[in-house]
Amino acid sequence: MKVNRICCIGAGYVGGPTMAMIAAKCPHIHVDVVDLNAERIAAWNSDELPIYEPGLNDIVVEARGKNLFFSTDVEESIAAADLIFVSVGTPTKSYGIGAGRAADLCYIESAARMIAKNAKGPKIIVEKSTIPVRTAEAIRTILGANSDHGQFQVLSNPEFLAEGTAVEDLTEPDRILIGGERTPEGDAAVEALVSVYANWVSRDRILTTNLWSSELSKLVANAFLAQRISSINSISALCEATGADVDEVGRAIGTDSRIGPKFLKASVGFGGSCFQKDILNLVYLCEHFGLPQVSQYWHAVVQMNDWQKERFSTKIVKTLFNTVRGKKIAILGFAFKKDTNDTRESASIYVCRDLLSEGANIALYDPKVPVSTIHADLNYVGVSDEVIDRQLTICSSAEEATDQSHGLAVLTEWDEFATLDFSAIYDKMFKPAFVFDGRNVLPHDKLRELGFDVYAIGKG
Ligand code: NAD
Ligand code: UGA
Repeated sequence: MKVNRICCIGAGYVGGPTMAMIAAKCPHIHVDVVDLNAERIAAWNSDELPIYEPGLNDIVVEARGKNLFFSTDVEESIAAADLIFVSVGTPTKSYGIGAGRAADLCYIESAARMIAKNAKGPKIIVEKSTIPVRTAEAIRTILGANSDHGQFQVLSNPEFLAEGTAVEDLTEPDRILIGGERTPEGDAAVEALVSVYANWVSRDRILTTNLWSSELSKLVANAFLAQRISSINSISALCEATGADVDEVGRAIGTDSRIGPKFLKASVGFGGSCFQKDILNLVYLCEHFGLPQVSQYWHAVVQMNDWQKERFSTKIVKTLFNTVRGKKIAILGFAFKKDTNDTRESASIYVCRDLLSEGANIALYDPKVPVSTIHADLNYVGVSDEVIDRQLTICSSAEEATDQSHGLAVLTEWDEFATLDFSAIYDKMFKPAFVFDGRNVLPHDKLRELGFDVYAIGKG
């Protein structure tokens, strides 16, 4: 099987960058990225891509119109492709059975039905989306029941890129994971996909497994990563109570090669579209398979994260003499991490919601997140338009946000926040001037010298 033509269903944070990388590294392959969302496709075809990701623009511009095409021609692209990636969203279900935990597979099912309807010959279908283990079985059943020729091979190829470093991660991935059916046809399909990645990834980094191991490994990878953050965040509370310093503890344990230094940065809580969703999905799967102890164990990772966000808002209120009503608080950062405009599950959303409900006036600055996204995110967590109009101001700089404020809180670790002119900021704030560093990126000693009262996560 040779792959000459690829179609990717879903032009989101994963579909767009991964396909741009494949197109850039495999000039002999024609890559169509399709989506039902015409506005998003138009943005992929414009000078202003729909997602902000360092280095992405160059790669897209290099390949677009040559062997990389963004369109809404879903049906034609499916029909023409040898290999079809399914990269649609798999959000947490908000209704019915499993609401709040299970993955909503409606987009996966609709993609599978579109493939069945439009595929006229043999196809390799690749699950790129993160899905519950054994979803390939459901996809296979839908394809088999709705297509005349039935020559489909379903593979699992989960994506491990992180936002903000997507281009680096895709250029030099730690590993590529491909799961397939252990039959001669399955092995051939796996080899076809391996040969696409082998254009730039060395073969010893391309792991092949059975379908279920690959599907499950993606959920487990995210659960382990998130667990490290919740673990260090739990210790941050103990550091604050005892006078230890969480960065020093992180460094001390991270130099043990069995533990390793990464993902030990205490914070106001992890965000992003996937950690919470994927752990909740794992929790639901464990319950479904009659493993309540395993389910509770992983659920605690999410509970610790919720507590960390609440703890931060509570700290602000308590420190500001138990009332923030009518006080201006500068919030620096709304994205869930730096170098992305993605806000899904960002800790900042929840901290803003809590402070608005306490009556605070929030002055918010984020260098990349559009105003409309901020409003939509706050609406989604129950903040009314009336409260937004009355208590929220979106600012175009950190200086503007902090002017005449009682406190400033860093919620995203944008590089520019560490080098602000804090002396000027201090002069324009009410006294005592409070700083709440939810990312431990500010120069705390210098701030104290200037006169600020500084609270930082995990610093006793
Ligand atoms: P996204 O919401 O940004 O993009 C999904 C896109 O799919 C949307 O543009 C939507 O319009 C489109 N879509 C849905 N149904 C469709 C259909 N039937 N036909 C055509 N288009 C359709 O989502 P994302 O962040 O790219 O995530 C996609 C998957 O990848 C999820 O399962 C996620 O868990 C996983 N994942 C995401 C990341 C990440 O960093 N965001 C990393 C690894 C894995
Ligand atoms: C994460 C994983 O890192 C990717 O491997 C995975 O592909 C992706 O989820 C996914 O499945 O969607 P992402 O959420 O984009 O990637 O970003 P991370 O760098 O993992 O950060 C997640 C959150 O944890 C952010 O809010 C970040 O600020 C926080 N974090 C990260 C910490 O609080 N401390 C750390 O030490 C690391």
